[in-house]
Amino acid sequence: MVEILSDYELDLMRKAGRLTAVVLSELRKAVKPGVTTKQLDDLAQMIIKEAGGTCPCVGYGEPPFPAAICTSINDVVVHGIPSNRVVLKEGDIVTCDVVAELNGFMGDAARTFLVGEVKEETRLLVERTKECFFAGLEKAQIGNRIGDVSAAVQACAEGYGYGVVRELTGHGIGREMHQEPDVPNYGKAGRGTRIVKGMAFCIEPMINMGKRNVLLGHDGWAVCSADGKPTAHYENTVIITENGPEMTTYEEGLNG
Ligand code: MF3
Ligand code: CO
Repeated sequence: MVEILSDYELDLMRKAGRLTAVVLSELRKAVKPGVTTKQLDDLAQMIIKEAGGTCPCVGYGEPPFPAAICTSINDVVVHGIPSNRVVLKEGDIVTCDVVAELNGFMGDAARTFLVGEVKEETRLLVERTKECFFAGLEKAQIGNRIGDVSAAVQACAEGYGYGVVRELTGHGIGREMHQEPDVPNYGKAGRGTRIVKGMAFCIEPMINMGKRNVLLGHDGWAVCSADGKPTAHYENTVIITENGPEMTTYEEGLNG
């Protein structure tokens, strides 16, 4: 069932989203060569707890996810587990994916950050993955369908010759991190759930520089590109209001 949120609940989504945005903005400042992904996780946990929130990723799923955020480097698409043995180095890209719960509601957002100087083709992949998100967001209008969002993301990515990951999708969000509907990054316009006021969902293109195929890592979490080429991710939580789509986890000048 697709949950429809009241104006009061949408306001709580904004508050959780704002906290998620602040965490991403602090992570962006912290990302540099020599920093471990465990340090990034500690920083995120500290900010969320300090604000009175919780970290729903801790203990999530099977095997239980052991950290608050996902840190996915280079060919890792999503769900990289932070570790004190994983050190960022010049030329890497690292996706930080943050979920924060505050007052019973959630924000979920991801950014792929550049570590120092990065190859131009990789920088472009990161920039264009963000562009794919906004192509999808533009279609998240009352009266449209989820398939309109999906098709727009796919057209943007494939127009650049990139591979669109299909095994993982965006998702509804609210009191839980993953709710209905699924929001795939590929599909047909005019299909799927109709978009109405009060819906909340994450749009999150996961875009490979090479082929779309992915593999699951030995830790049961990390998902990597099968061809080993770099991959990028960009995600915001979106609420649908009478004024159109609103990103709760994005703030111009903060993490925009
Ligand atoms: N933030 C991810 C998403 O966009 C989910 C995190 S998986 C977890 O769906 F295990 F870390 F919780
Ligand atoms: Co998500």
